[in-house]
Amino acid sequence: MNPIKLTENVYWVGAVDWDVRDFHGYSTNRGTTYNAYLIMDEKITLIDTVKKGLKSDMLARIREIVDPEKIDYIVVNHVEMDHSGSLPDMVELVQPEKIICSKMGKKALLEHFHQKDWPYQIAVPGEDVSLGAKTLSFLETRMLHWPDSMFTYLVEDQILFSSDAFGEHLGTSERFDDEVDQAVLMEELTKYYANILLLYSPLVKKLIAKVKEMDLQIKMIAPDHGVIWRTNPGMALEAYDQWSQGKGDGKALVVYDTMWHSTEAMAKRVGAGLQKEGISYQLLNLRYNHRSDVMREVLNASAIVLGCSTLNNGLLPRMAGFLMYMRGLRPLNKIGAAFGSFGWSGEAVKLMNTSMTDLKFNVIDDGLRVKYVPEETDFDHCIELGRKVGKAIKASTGE
Ligand code: FEO
Repeated sequence: MNPIKLTENVYWVGAVDWDVRDFHGYSTNRGTTYNAYLIMDEKITLIDTVKKGLKSDMLARIREIVDPEKIDYIVVNHVEMDHSGSLPDMVELVQPEKIICSKMGKKALLEHFHQKDWPYQIAVPGEDVSLGAKTLSFLETRMLHWPDSMFTYLVEDQILFSSDAFGEHLGTSERFDDEVDQAVLMEELTKYYANILLLYSPLVKKLIAKVKEMDLQIKMIAPDHGVIWRTNPGMALEAYDQWSQGKGDGKALVVYDTMWHSTEAMAKRVGAGLQKEGISYQLLNLRYNHRSDVMREVLNASAIVLGCSTLNNGLLPRMAGFLMYMRGLRPLNKIGAAFGSFGWSGEAVKLMNTSMTDLKFNVIDDGLRVKYVPEETDFDHCIELGRKVGKAIKASTGE
C-alpha cells in the first residue's frame, strides 16, 4: 500500500473505495476515495481518517512512513462516518495527545462516539497550531456541508485540506488532478457540487469571497474525496464561484416519467418546441436516469420542464422521489414549466408546478394536461410550451 507524497513530509494515506455505488442516495458509479493525510513533523499529525471498513488500507499506508502509534495529533475536519468511521479505533491505537476539531466538531464527535475523555482541542480561526517546522491554521466552514465542517490550512506548504468541499466521488489509482481525464474530473466535480453542496450555495459564495479577501495562497487543495488539486486548484475554485451564483447556461432539461408513453410523446414535442427557438435541451426519462445524474444537469440548466402522468390522484413514484430530492437541494434561478397526460383526475401537473413554485422557480405556465392519448392539436400545444420556455430562457440571458 503506497502512500503518495504531496510535498516534503506531507503524504496521502487514505483509501480507495472501488466498490461503493450508492452514497446516501447519490449514485457513485466510479467509486470514491476517503482521503486522509499524514504530516511528518515534531508533532506527527493525521488529518481525517477513512470509512471504518477501509481502516486497514489507511494503516498500511501510514506504516510505510511511520509506526501509527507515533502519531501525536489527529485533526478531524468533518465528523461524517466516511471520514471518522475508523476514528475510535485510531484513537485507541494512537492514544493521541490532541484531537483537533471545530467547536461543533467536538459536539458531533461526542454525539457519535460518546467519548467524553478524548483529548479534544477546539480549532479556532486565527489561533494557529505549530507542529514544529510546519503550522496549521483553521477556517470556519460551518454547514459546508455539516455543522462541524472546517478547513485546515498548512501554512508553509500552502495546502488547503478542504474536507468535503472541492471533492469528487471518483475512485482512481491516480491521486492528482493532472493525472486523470479532465472531462471525467469536471463531470464528477459538477455532480458532487450538485448533490452535496448546492443547498449551501449562499455559504459557498461567502466562503469564496472570504478566501479572496484573505488572499490565501493556495498551492494545492486536498479534499476528502477524489483527486488532489496540485496543478489547477483555480479550476475548482472558479467552478465553485460560478455554481454558487446560480447562473444558467441557456439550456433546458425535459425531465419526465411516463405510464403508457403519452407523456413521453408530449416530452418529445416540448423538446421540438425548444429546438425551434434554438435552445439546446436534453430529454431525461427518470426511468433511465438516476436522480443524482439528473441533478448534475439541473445545476447548470436555465430551465427545467417536468412531465409526469397522473397516478392515483398524484405523481408517478419516480417523479415524486425526484421532486423530494431536488427540494432538499434547492437549485437557484430556474425557469419552470410542467405537462403530463391523465385519465380522469389529472393532479400531476399542478403538483409539479406547486413544487417548482415552492423552490422559487419562475414557473411560466399553468401547465399542459392531455387526457389519455395526445392528438395533433395536443402536440401543437406541447411545441408551443417548448417555444414559450425557449423564449423565457432567451429573455433571461438577454438574447
Ligand atoms: Fe464525505 Fe460529508 O462526508
